[in-house]
Amino acid sequence: MLIKRLQSIVGPKGWTTDPDDMAPSLVDWRGTVHGAAAIIVSPASSEEVSAVVKVCADAGVAIVPQGGNTGMCAGAVPDESGQQVVLRLGRMNAIRAVDPVNFSMEVEAGCILETVQNAAAGVDRLFALSLGAEGSCQIGGNLATNAGGINVIRYGTARAQVLGLEAVLADGSIVSSLRSLRKDTAGYDLKQLFIGSEGTLGIITAATLKLFPNPGPTTTALIALKSSGDAVRLLAHLRTAIGDAIEAFELISGYVFGLVLEHIPGSALPFDREYPWYVLTDVTCGTNTDRFVQAMQDAATIDLVRDAAIAKNSAESGALWRMRHSIAEAERAAGKALKHDISVPISRIEEFLQRGDSLLAEIAPAAQLIAFGHVGDGNLHYNVALEPGSSDGDRVTAAIYTLVTELGGSFSAEHGIGRLKREYLVRYRSESEIELMKTLKRALDPLNILNPGKVI
Ligand code: FAD
Ligand code: MLT
Ligand code: ZN
Repeated sequence: MLIKRLQSIVGPKGWTTDPDDMAPSLVDWRGTVHGAAAIIVSPASSEEVSAVVKVCADAGVAIVPQGGNTGMCAGAVPDESGQQVVLRLGRMNAIRAVDPVNFSMEVEAGCILETVQNAAAGVDRLFALSLGAEGSCQIGGNLATNAGGINVIRYGTARAQVLGLEAVLADGSIVSSLRSLRKDTAGYDLKQLFIGSEGTLGIITAATLKLFPNPGPTTTALIALKSSGDAVRLLAHLRTAIGDAIEAFELISGYVFGLVLEHIPGSALPFDREYPWYVLTDVTCGTNTDRFVQAMQDAATIDLVRDAAIAKNSAESGALWRMRHSIAEAERAAGKALKHDISVPISRIEEFLQRGDSLLAEIAPAAQLIAFGHVGDGNLHYNVALEPGSSDGDRVTAAIYTLVTELGGSFSAEHGIGRLKREYLVRYRSESEIELMKTLKRALDPLNILNPGKVI
């Protein structure tokens, strides 16, 4: 009965129960969590999403919103019961309007991130969110996870790119704040409730996004370093010299680049020897790269830089960024690793890495560290590949998260909680914070039908 009602809401193009069509939606990107679903529906409008949610609420059946399914915490995968309804947003992929004068655009939730970036670039504007999965993740998923990526250092996370939002609530009603205002203090900022809530408080159907001026010519540099601490010192040095011109500042260990060279065809580093650490950075100093080059030369004289390669053209820059964006794929190809998506104050990164190394040496000496990330935001992917058959995983994770907490950091910087990190949320957030989260969840989703078993 429910299935028939859903089919009639979304029409023949809007649903599937074919196992082959369903398969990619029933496993997470890393291939670690598998689920099952009663049906997958793909509504074509906010009204259809609303109608789907209403009939699911009537039947007490849970809904799992799904964007590009590139999430790292299995938040978009249904449970194993086979009773849940997966709601794919991909058919809602219209760019509704672009306003270059207001520096804003209105898009539907199922737009691929790269399509959004291109639509902004088409009117000489920048949509600043950028991450390795941008060719397949969707803006709705980006907002639902409050994604980070490589440009946070200058523009902030997904949360900071939103002016207005439309969402469908657990009773099927549509709440719209699709305004394109920079200033608006009329009551609670409801849109922020849904951003980062991973589909547990509402289904995001559209958003008004903030655009920036085209930052102009960008210089990409790969910088070789003797230590990870030098990355933090170099960042401070460059920021002092060239200010906000740094658009991205990514730390990558030599071992991680080794994985990329091994697993990603066509990758190559521009140096004739290996270094323990590298930074890949994008800076915008207009057409004048001299300020940046001078700052780098000054950094070399104080021994912060071992070598550096500045991309000569967009092809060279693209090749370097392709290597950076392929790290997750290379890591997946190399086998399963424990993922720790942590953040600490930037000034404590070096201490975190040094103490993390000591903890690993003590608990799992044969483990391999896979460290890289958005060091300019204090966010590292401190991943650990254990020896096959090792049972040290839980101890390693507990030790790393305890260290992060002691340093004033977070165990979840940009990937969210999903299904995989719920136990840590309860452990590392205060009782009062957890109680307030539960209160919000109960108020907005009393039947617990929106992505149950995720986050809280
Ligand atoms: P999904 O994986 O489909 O969903 C993620 C969560 O959001 C789920 O809980 C889902 O239920 C919910 N959701 C999806 N759409 C909606 C909606 N419309 N309304 C309500 N809830 C919804 N993440 C970063 O933060 N920074 C990175 O640098 C980064 N790099 C990545 C690189 C690669 C190669 C890969 C594979 C992933 C990377 N990620 C990164 C993780 C991932 O891409 C992001 O979390 C992204 O924002 C997820 O978008 P999605 O459309 O794939 O969402
Ligand atoms: C990245 O920075 O590449 C992503 O967050 C993906 C990952 O952590 O594997
Ligand atoms: Zn990341």
